Amino acid sequence: MNVILVGPPGAGKGTQAQRLQETYGLKHLSTGDMLRAEVAAGSAVGRQAKAIMDRGELVPDEILIKMIGERITQPDAAKGFLLDGFPRTVGQAEALDQMLAGRKVTLDHVIQLVVNNDAMVERISGRFSCKTCGAGYHDTFKKTKKPGVCDACGGTEFVRRPDDKPETVRTRLEAYDRQTAPLLPYYQAKGVLRAVDGMAAIDDVTKKLGLLLKAA
Ligand code: AP5
Ligand code: MG
Ligand code: ZN
Repeated sequence: MNVILVGPPGAGKGTQAQRLQETYGLKHLSTGDMLRAEVAAGSAVGRQAKAIMDRGELVPDEILIKMIGERITQPDAAKGFLLDGFPRTVGQAEALDQMLAGRKVTLDHVIQLVVNNDAMVERISGRFSCKTCGAGYHDTFKKTKKPGVCDACGGTEFVRRPDDKPETVRTRLEAYDRQTAPLLPYYQAKGVLRAVDGMAAIDDVTKKLGLLLKAA
């Protein structure tokens, strides 16, 4: 099964993908995480992407298309992938269609997490993650069980993203509305678009996604 999660910054793509990948054996591929790894490694792509990401704008299509094209063909994505943050423009979606058609791979679901953009600034400004294992948390909505200790790995160091400042989040939301929202009619026309209420509590969103994927 191959699935795309679409939604604005803060919609819960990463949170839900972390959960679904375990249950359904899908490989979670987040282009945001891949780009942050390039930035951390100081690679040529990372050096080019850093300033763009810090402004909250989109990195050029050709970089992302090459990056995902290399990643999606790895053996660990062969049983099924769960794309988070890609595609993000119609150009990226068209390139993905070509890649998949060339390998006779079908896209089963494009799931839109439907949220109210105004609530996303609060969600994102409370977000933090474990420095050791990457598990995601929120100051209000998803605290660690024991203060200061990661539930997943026991790590005690946490990080916040440099693009999570409120003014940058607003630029990211605008980029979503202008450049990514046109994907919705694109996938609707292909008959693969589903919608899930992303304003519900985290566990309820996971349950709804589970029902949708089981029905497949
Ligand atoms: P990326 O890393 O993809 O960021 P994003 O799309 O802005 O999305 P986020 O990761 O902020 O949100 P999310 O939906 O994953 O929410 P989360 O689950 O963490 O991209 C970063 C940058 O990289 C882009 O700006 C761009 O520059 C570049 N980039 C990446 N891909 C690209 C591409 N394809 N093309 C061009 N450029 C690209 O949840 C947020 C918080 O809310 C968490 O704290 C969580 O605990 C909490 N939360 C989640 N769900 C709920 C809920 N239901 N109720 C309450 N709280 C919740
Ligand atoms: Mg994310
Ligand atoms: Zn951890």
